Amino acid sequence: MRRLMLVGLSVLAAALASPALAKDVVRPVKLSVDISRPGPVIDRHIFGQFAEHLGHGIYEGIWVGKDSPIPNTRGIRNDVVEALKALHVPDVRWPGGCFADEYHWRRGIGPVRQPMMNANWGGVIEPNTFGTEEYFDFLSQIGSEAYVSVNVGSGTVGEAAEWLEYMTASKSDAMGAERAKNGHEEPYKVAFVGLGNESWDCGGGMSPDYYVSQMKRYSRFVRSYHPDQSEKGEPMQRIAVGPNSGDTAYTKAVMQAYKKHSWAWSIEGLSLHSYTTGGGWPLSQKATGFGEREYALMLSETVGMDALIKKHGAIMDKYDPQKKVSLTVDEWGAWYLPEPGSNPGFLVQQNTQRDAILAALNINIFARHADRVRMANIAQIINVLQAMIVTDGDKMLLTPTYHVFKMYVPFQDATFIPLRYNAGKYTFGKYSLHRVDAIAARDKTGKLWLAVTNVDPHHAANFEIAVPGVATTKVEGETLAAPAFDSVNTFEAPNTVAPKPVSVAAVNGKLSLTLAPASVTVVALEQ
Ligand code: AHR
Repeated sequence: MRRLMLVGLSVLAAALASPALAKDVVRPVKLSVDISRPGPVIDRHIFGQFAEHLGHGIYEGIWVGKDSPIPNTRGIRNDVVEALKALHVPDVRWPGGCFADEYHWRRGIGPVRQPMMNANWGGVIEPNTFGTEEYFDFLSQIGSEAYVSVNVGSGTVGEAAEWLEYMTASKSDAMGAERAKNGHEEPYKVAFVGLGNESWDCGGGMSPDYYVSQMKRYSRFVRSYHPDQSEKGEPMQRIAVGPNSGDTAYTKAVMQAYKKHSWAWSIEGLSLHSYTTGGGWPLSQKATGFGEREYALMLSETVGMDALIKKHGAIMDKYDPQKKVSLTVDEWGAWYLPEPGSNPGFLVQQNTQRDAILAALNINIFARHADRVRMANIAQIINVLQAMIVTDGDKMLLTPTYHVFKMYVPFQDATFIPLRYNAGKYTFGKYSLHRVDAIAARDKTGKLWLAVTNVDPHHAANFEIAVPGVATTKVEGETLAAPAFDSVNTFEAPNTVAPKPVSVAAVNGKLSLTLAPASVTVVALEQ
């Protein structure tokens, strides 16, 4: 016991030694974990990723080519694969984004690839070296499922239908035989298919009604050729284009149609895209070198995700009270001004401790809406927007956002457990949000997990944790704090923002946990 107490004290002492924690600790937050009322399962697909043919996301980020001096397996870089395996990435949305509505899959299969201009993203030549075969190889190397967005904007239903046939039919089918000739005898599994992307904008500027009429045809004919397409043995899920942030026009039109759908077509998901920009377009916020005003602005805007989900969820409830259709937030994250000196079409931005907090707040919101939000994809996986990983030649670094996704792995497919706590307020000027934010869940082994974010950049947060009915002896996990809220990892200093272990034992039956200002912590509650 004395040893455990010393461990607890030493962690607290180490934490208090950090300059940020040296400031005063405000009133303790009493947090109670209510295990008597378990909620829905937090679908692991809310931790999905997005990889578009954009900038250095695919080329350099994932694909370096078989002859590259950078260590690779069949052209896919090994360091990135190793890092992503640790995230248990549930699915990777591909090939876009706006790119998807100009993608013609036939140019990216077989021994001879046909380049195209990537008109959306910098006007560079897209070699189509990374195509269907390479995507599925990447998925199998990282252990992830497929989320393929088909071309509704400039393609045809026939083209998209044949792509699914190519991917999922057996080799006794002509398209399946072509896939086998290209090296993959067994059909691939496509767990999710996106029926277009942002059809209200880059996907073709379609009115809601026009999109609905197109979407029904795609839903009908873009079929998988095997009933079992996911790791869980489920059929392929079709995700329709849905709202642009707060605009409800697509939500209403698609859900109205869904309510009346016949045997011939259906959908299982409705996509929501919402980025945190700190004021909308044109972009105005810098990814680094910002002050507290910008810290508070970005975080208070990002928690608007909760109201957005409620707004669209209420419309969905009207047409789908049984919540059969998932609200799929398949593009979210922070979007800043591009990194000075970078190609503006490549969407390069740095990633700070603020982004780690922003990610945690959104994940917590998705988890609280686990009954409706069963999938989400942060934009984007490598080198683009709020990335997990940044590469430069043979170098690779993990961003603060990566660390949050890794710390939250125990929440994948865990059961939501309600909490009671007084969150308090963090206010800066006109911006105000909860000072602390927390979720809890029980994993499949029965272990209880707690994720807590201290938004306040000035004050540590001291939690007194109780689990009524359970004698909790200690909390153990990791905490992600940083010297400052705009701290970043660089190739020269890749571990400036990195998780550190936390272990605190109960003293006289009481568990308390002190969190650094502007930090994210995930701990298991041990019995
Ligand atoms: O993620 C970058 C772009 O943002 C996507 O291509 C598009 O769907 C969205 O507007």
